[in-house]
Amino acid sequence: MRELGVGLIGCGVVGAEVVRGIAEDREVWARRYGVVPVVRRVAVRDTSKRRECKLPLSVLTAHPEDVLADPSVDVVVEATGRVEEARNWMERALDAGKHVVTASKAVLARHMGELLERARSRGLSFGYEATVAGGIPLLRALREGLVAYGITEVAGILNGTTHYMLTRMEQERLPFETALSEAQRAGFAEPDPSEDVSGEDAACKLAVVSRMALALPVTQRDVYKEGIRDVKPRDLRLAVKLGFRVKPMAVARRSAVEGKWELRVHPALVPIESPLGRLALEENGIRVTTERRGDYFFSGRGAGGAPTAGAVLSDLLEVALRPGGPPAVEMADSASTVSSEQFVTGHYVRVAGDAARLRKDLEERDIQVIAAHQEGQEVALVTGRGTPASVLPALAAASGEAPRVWLRVEGDISA
Ligand code: HSE
Repeated sequence: MRELGVGLIGCGVVGAEVVRGIAEDREVWARRYGVVPVVRRVAVRDTSKRRECKLPLSVLTAHPEDVLADPSVDVVVEATGRVEEARNWMERALDAGKHVVTASKAVLARHMGELLERARSRGLSFGYEATVAGGIPLLRALREGLVAYGITEVAGILNGTTHYMLTRMEQERLPFETALSEAQRAGFAEPDPSEDVSGEDAACKLAVVSRMALALPVTQRDVYKEGIRDVKPRDLRLAVKLGFRVKPMAVARRSAVEGKWELRVHPALVPIESPLGRLALEENGIRVTTERRGDYFFSGRGAGGAPTAGAVLSDLLEVALRPGGPPAVEMADSASTVSSEQFVTGHYVRVAGDAARLRKDLEERDIQVIAAHQEGQEVALVTGRGTPASVLPALAAASGEAPRVWLRVEGDISA
């Protein structure tokens, strides 16, 4: 029976689930493939802390160097949630001839090109399935199939924390802060939850997807982002009356501007009766649109220790069965993104006025109104697609004031 020696750096929520998963899955690995994963060394901050996962004391160390230097470790799992230190450990693991598996999207979003090249040039595996969409094998499906079909769009929910929060704020009217602390308690949020709330976490994931599936040489800084902090409970409710739900969207879409892409993370309304509109809580969901083979939809649990550890375990199995460097990929030219004024979406606004009069006025200005709802002196409405400049000034002119609230609308919208 062959053994795969596993070393971990970090044993928090994800690392502990990986240890547990290795113990649970080893029998199946052994029976099916004749290989068993064995945890050889685990670096943690505090070796005296009581842990739920069972590990012999001799395996624990306070020094990541011990994992990197252990000759019985074939693959290093990096699960610390740190950035520059984690990058350094991964580089040193590769230099020491060890395969690497990571769950750190923040590192990948910033340094993916260098890390993959380092692994490739050494013929070592570099697994990062756990960096995007937790338990959904999205990156594998993209890499091993869909990339060849001419992807024109990858759009969906990549952050479980904000999806969980918006769901509970809409359905149970929880205040923002309560919804956030519950997401933290459930183990979905980042150590610094402002990364979830601001869209930074989803921007990192979208950068990883864009590099891997679209060959765009981007980092998280190239992704336009808006957080969910300004989404008002009233608009969550009004959206439902219009047949929509507000979701934390991440979108990479081929732009109308030749050769460019829209890369963006922001809250947006999606139709309730759509695959994304039907998802709730921490679920993730991603629609992939291709030129030659139609559309694909993936959904599943996107945040939390167990789904993320599942992705790490799938990468470990890959290392055990098919070790080897990632392929060289020809990247697109730089400067591949358009600015937010050029994004083409539907628009949700809340304005002063009378719904029937506004609808007529907007249609005379060639703005399609998909749905409108009157509540007191205000109208909430959804328009057809256009750039902000092609829709918002007409809305302001029709209602006599700038929209009080404005959100983008995604998905298939038609009157
Ligand atoms: N904080 C992340 C989320 C964890 O909520 O999606 C999974 O990457």
